[in-house]
Amino acid sequence: MFGESVERLNRFVALLAEQGVERGLIGPREIERIWDRHVLNSAVVGELVPEGAHVVDVGSGGGFPGVPLALARPDISITLLESMARRVQWLEEVLDELSLENADVLRGRAEDKAVRAELGAVDVVTARAVAPLGRLAQWCLPLLRTGGLLLAVKGASVAEEIARDEAIVEKAGGESIDVVQCGVDVLEVPATVVVIEAAPRSVRSRKGRRRRR
Ligand SMILES: C[S@@+](CC[C@H](N)C(=O)[O-])C[C@H]1O[C@@H](n2cnc3c(N)ncnc32)[C@H](O)[C@@H]1O
Repeated sequence: MFGESVERLNRFVALLAEQGVERGLIGPREIERIWDRHVLNSAVVGELVPEGAHVVDVGSGGGFPGVPLALARPDISITLLESMARRVQWLEEVLDELSLENADVLRGRAEDKAVRAELGAVDVVTARAVAPLGRLAQWCLPLLRTGGLLLAVKGASVAEEIARDEAIVEKAGGESIDVVQCGVDVLEVPATVVVIEAAPRSVRSRKGRRRRR
């Protein structure tokens, strides 16, 4: 899955094992299961990312899913968007250390107008463990071009989350909601990903205007 990037991936895992717990990026119990629950669980999301896409990983934290995704898919470019300064510092160190040329780091919040303006309309937004689905849709759908995809990595309670937040997703401009299992051939527990397609921008702004009345 990682081709020539496997050494850089090993280096990323080593950095997390050395500094991740101390710097509050990963829990102590996560180190022993870092490969399947974090690294592979992140990389397999690439199954849903089109060739050459510009991806924004919202709330990248310690670098998931953004860093494994960038290493597994040298054809894509990825912006790691993170609001917390010390995590931004970590992500910049990681990109530097791994000489990861298809990734960059942006400090900010997904819902900020300035961040939206800086990013433009991207092809794909990824997010793992950042916010409930409805809030994610409100923050992330405005970052996407028409037909762009929000890929939210979720856990076992995904069906309940969708039932609860479906109306919010639709109002935020989600055209469709699907649930896809990624990594079925590689992982004992595949990654569950909610795929939300962005409606045309004109439709999204009409919905926004209706909501404000
Ligand atoms: C629980 S951590 C998850 C980190 C990583 N995605 C993972 O799966 O390990 C959530 C991260 O999202 C960041 N975050 C929360 N809300 C955000 C927002 N609106 N925009 C950008 N980053 C955000 C937090 O600072 C934090 O680093």
